[in-house]
Amino acid sequence: VIAHRAPATVRLGGGAVARAGDAVRELGGRRALLVTSLGMPQRPGFQRLLDSLAGGGATVEVWAETPAEPEASDLAAAVAHASGFRPDVVVGLGGGSALDLAKLTAILLAHGGPVDRYYGTGRLPGRGRPTLLLPTTAGSGSEVSHDAVLTDRAAGTKRAVKDPHLVPSCALVDPELTWTCPPPLTAASGLDAFCHAIEAFTNPRADALTDFYALESMRLIRDHLPRAFAAGDDAPARAAMARGALLAGLAFAAVGTAAIHACGYPLSGLWGLPHGVANALMLPEVVAFNAASCGKYRPVASLFGGEDLPGALRGLLRSVGLPTRLRALGVSCDSIPRLAEIASRDERHLSANPRPVSRGDLEGIFERSW
Ligand SMILES: [Fe+2]
Repeated sequence: VIAHRAPATVRLGGGAVARAGDAVRELGGRRALLVTSLGMPQRPGFQRLLDSLAGGGATVEVWAETPAEPEASDLAAAVAHASGFRPDVVVGLGGGSALDLAKLTAILLAHGGPVDRYYGTGRLPGRGRPTLLLPTTAGSGSEVSHDAVLTDRAAGTKRAVKDPHLVPSCALVDPELTWTCPPPLTAASGLDAFCHAIEAFTNPRADALTDFYALESMRLIRDHLPRAFAAGDDAPARAAMARGALLAGLAFAAVGTAAIHACGYPLSGLWGLPHGVANALMLPEVVAFNAASCGKYRPVASLFGGEDLPGALRGLLRSVGLPTRLRALGVSCDSIPRLAEIASRDERHLSANPRPVSRGDLEGIFERSW
């Protein structure tokens, strides 16, 4: 029987960002560290958040240096920036990278670093500073999940801290924050959310709640991702995507993700592919591999009106401008054995796959995706 964990407060809907000041006050915060991404301060949502925090009486220090696919050195920089300020709450604004960095900053401010000693499952000594998270993509689900991921380029992969102590204190999911999310990031983060949903749905430990969240999430993404990609200010499409990504986050938070993520991590670690793009490219062939032993793909296939689920998923990728082949992104064929070797060591993800997958199987999946 699995545990469902979520922030004590989740607000979903247009204008939720205006509740940030109240949320910080409810968390007992007076001094808020805002962790966000490069470029975010130029976007209108950033100012709306600052106004709300100021209205709630909080003093705010901004760290807007989160790069794409951040590493441990970025986390150390955020913590160093924060230590003189002594924040009593950490606010994260951005995509999964900024939100994960905010969550880990809150841990390191309370318990010290370096982060290496927390990699793995259940290794945190306790909760960190309270966290308030506002996603600007739809999305990573990081605003509700209890894991956080950093890229380790030396190891050629991503590494995760997974622990119930990492459940955020409060999530404000405001679809209006995603209106300025550019089309390529809308596509990549939307496909990442779809991968969260399908991998949670087919997890051997899935229960009635994960099924409910995940299937609805996939339906919403199927209907609304192409529209949100085509017109960023399509308010109903953005609202539906915010809902879909949140549901996917709630689903995978409970059971984790699987072989798609095991394959995606080394594509980011070795080739620098954005997490969502890496997963999107692996999605059709991992599903094709699993199909023989995964009856739960039947309701997913019927969402797409047919039998050929991998083909339908390739169509979804194409509809949002994503390539369907690794070679189109400059990944060399020679690196496939190394990609498969790194992925094969990812026991956490592979054990959650609906079909057992060997190193040789992984090599075949990468080859067919190439
Ligand atoms: Fe993901």
